[in-house]
Amino acid sequence: MKAVILAGGFGTRLRPLTLDTPKPIVPIFDRPFLYYQTDLLRQVPEIDEVILSLNYRPDRIEARVGRGADAGLPVRYVVEPEPLGTGGAIKYASRGIDDTILVLNGDVLTTIDLQAVVRTHRERHAQATIVLTPVENPSAYGLVETDDQGNVRRFLEKPDPEDITCNTINAGIYLLEPETFDRIPDDTPWSIERQYFPSLVERSETFVAYVDRGYWLDIGTPAAYVQAHRDLMRHRCPVGPFASDHAAPVHKAGPCDVAPDAQFEGPCFLAAGSVVGPAARIGPETVLGPGCHVGAGAVVEQTILWRDTFVDAECVVRDAILGERCRLDHHAEIGPGVILGSDSTISAHSRVPGTR
Ligand code: GDD
Ligand code: MG
Repeated sequence: MKAVILAGGFGTRLRPLTLDTPKPIVPIFDRPFLYYQTDLLRQVPEIDEVILSLNYRPDRIEARVGRGADAGLPVRYVVEPEPLGTGGAIKYASRGIDDTILVLNGDVLTTIDLQAVVRTHRERHAQATIVLTPVENPSAYGLVETDDQGNVRRFLEKPDPEDITCNTINAGIYLLEPETFDRIPDDTPWSIERQYFPSLVERSETFVAYVDRGYWLDIGTPAAYVQAHRDLMRHRCPVGPFASDHAAPVHKAGPCDVAPDAQFEGPCFLAAGSVVGPAARIGPETVLGPGCHVGAGAVVEQTILWRDTFVDAECVVRDAILGERCRLDHHAEIGPGVILGSDSTISAHSRVPGTR
């Protein structure tokens, strides 16, 4: 079985971070997000290849992921000539495949039992099976209504408040039979959510829902991206470096250079090669990416630093995200909600108070 990961979006809501780092390789701790998805796909032994459906910065993704040695599954790239929308992209990526396809939105973090979804799809002889998850406010998602037998009765993408009739939404995980793709025109933008799913309902095809009540998050906004780290660090999502029973609250992923009087309050994560200077303070829910440096007396808390970022002496950074290779000169202060794109420089004693 082939898995198609839809990863061609521009990641606009995560700008500036996604300007040079497309969403699939945005890091979660020190690994690209995509690897959390391939970890999930490896549950299904039948899956023998992952097809990445791309159009935005495929070069960056290919350079990082290659043929999938670190993903644990062979990875192939299908680059659309232009964005074809979710439906057009699925059809384009699965040319020549006539077996059931597993499709994953490239930004969902979940612990779902994929084997159980595959079983349901087969037992029900479904043309399409969609995973649903309950959320408090469905308006930012695809609302999905089902009947008592678990058949989809209505699919409504990004519903207006008055159209919200239930709390189950599209989790961005599907099993699809390629024979149903004949309705998708070739090389034309087409939406799986706004066109293909409603059409299955209209034609009364076997369109089955699988409701999962486990952990699920779309990491596609800054708040959700931060939330993902907090949930992983606080064991609300039982995967990643903090999942093991022996995981220390201050997790060092490799050799680090830490001053004896540096202070740590967990949970926090130090990637290999992190440097923490004398009397520096690393607060909870903080991630230091590979090769980051926190200088003497600096305070960094509830903050995610991407690789090779340098925080000089006496800086204070709270509740922020800093991209790769940023540089804060001494005594700079960065406040809550600030996001700095890669290669940003903040000069000494500057104050960036933030929006929260
Ligand atoms: N290849 C390709 N081409 N991929 C695309 C394209 C395209 O033209 N457009 C979007 N994608 C990819 C994105 O990279 C992302 O991984 C996935 O398709 C979904 O797009 P988002 O932009 O993240 O959509 P969303 O989060 O607003 O809504 C979708 O996901 C929700 C769950 O998180 C919808 O599927 C909703 O129905 C769903 O509830
Ligand atoms: Mg999304």
